[in-house]
Amino acid sequence: MGKDVIIACDFNSKQEVISFLGKFQDKKPFIKIGMELFYAEGPEIVRLIRGMGHQIFLDLKLHDIPNQVKKAMAVLSGLDVDLCNVHAAGTKAMMEAALEGLTRADGTRPLLIAVTQLTSTSAEVMRRELLIERPMDETVMHYAQNAKEAGLDGIVCSPLEAGKVHAACGEGFLTVTPGVRFADGDMGDQQRVTTPARARELGSDYIVVGRPVTQAKDPVEAYLRCVEEFLG
Ligand code: C5P
Repeated sequence: MGKDVIIACDFNSKQEVISFLGKFQDKKPFIKIGMELFYAEGPEIVRLIRGMGHQIFLDLKLHDIPNQVKKAMAVLSGLDVDLCNVHAAGTKAMMEAALEGLTRADGTRPLLIAVTQLTSTSAEVMRRELLIERPMDETVMHYAQNAKEAGLDGIVCSPLEAGKVHAACGEGFLTVTPGVRFADGDMGDQQRVTTPARARELGSDYIVVGRPVTQAKDPVEAYLRCVEEFLG
C-alpha cells in the first residue's frame, strides 16, 4: 500500500454515505468507516462500500482484554477491510492478540495500527485524571514503540509527529494522520492542524480528512485538491 488520502465518512446512515460516495462516480477514494456509521448500519455497510470498489479503514479502536479483542478481530478479518485499529493503551499483549485474531487461515490479514493518545486528551488531563506523569510526547513515542514491538504496522498520530515516529520505529512503520486542513479552510474542533502539502513534507503515509471534504460545497473537488497537494 502506498501513500493515500483517506476520507473520514463520519455519517450516521447508509443513505447519507451512499449519496456522498455517488458524487465520486468512477473515482474510488479510500474510505474510513468509524464507530458512528458502523454502529448505525452494522457490518453490512462495510460489505456494501467494499463491493463498490473502495479500500476501507475500519476505525473501531478496539480496547478490551486480549481474548475478547482477539475474537472480535477474527470476526472483523472476515470483512475484507484494508486497515483497522486498536488502542495502544490496551497493552502489548492485547495488540499481539489482535494481530493473531486478525490473521486469516491463509496467513493474510488487514494492516493493523494503534491509536496512541487521543488528540482530545490534553497533557493536563493525562496528569491529573489519568495519573500519567510523563510528558505527552514521551508517552506517544513509547506507545508507538510498544505497537512496533507487538508487531503492528503503524500508528495514528499527528502529521507533526510523523517524522519522529519514523525515526524511532522505521520508515516502513505507517503514520496515519488526521488533523488536516486546507490553508484557507475552517479548523473546526481540531487544534494542531497541517495542510495536505505540509503532511507530505513531514512524511505522513496516509492523511485522514473528514469535514474539509465531506462538508465542502464540492466534495469531489476538495478531495482532488487533497490528493494533488498530498501526492503531488
Ligand atoms: O473532520 P475531520 O477532518 O476533523 O475528521 C478527522 C477524522 O479523524 C475523524 O473521523 C476523527 O475521529 C479522526 N481522528 C482525529 N484525531 C485522532 C484520531 C482520529 O481527528 N487523534
